[in-house]
Amino acid sequence: MSRVIDVLNGPNLNLLGQRQPEIYGHETLADIRAMLENRATISGIEIGFFQSNHEGAIIDRIHAARGKADGIIINPAAHTHTSVAILDALKTFEGPVVEVHLSNVHQRETFRHHSYVSQRADGVIAGLGTLGYRAALDFLIQRLEA
Ligand code: DQA
Repeated sequence: MSRVIDVLNGPNLNLLGQRQPEIYGHETLADIRAMLENRATISGIEIGFFQSNHEGAIIDRIHAARGKADGIIINPAAHTHTSVAILDALKTFEGPVVEVHLSNVHQRETFRHHSYVSQRADGVIAGLGTLGYRAALDFLIQRLEA
């Protein structure tokens, strides 16, 4: 059975490439998806890809990943700093979780310095741009292959 990594993206990330490119870069979410799918294919891994501007939809997607996905990469976007509900949902998921931020949140406003999600994440990547997603995938593939 093929392994599945679910890649979840929170609010406003649908506008990646147009949204504050000086902070988030020029690549789009579709570019990230294509890059991850290319990398995953080499290892025979399937990528599930999801973006929502709605907290509840992200929670539903995490529930759907239970027992189905082998790992989660999540950029919860602004929900990172506010959502106990996403943290609780991730705590119901049994596999490894990597939290990714395109920007270095620790270099930005203080309200971005705290993450609820980090309490559950096995790893946290910030400030590497789209390469952060790629690093997260490499980590999870290594975990699955171990
Ligand atoms: C972000 C950082 C968050 O603080 C912000 O709300 C985002 C994107 C990032 O990828 O750098 O929407 O998660």
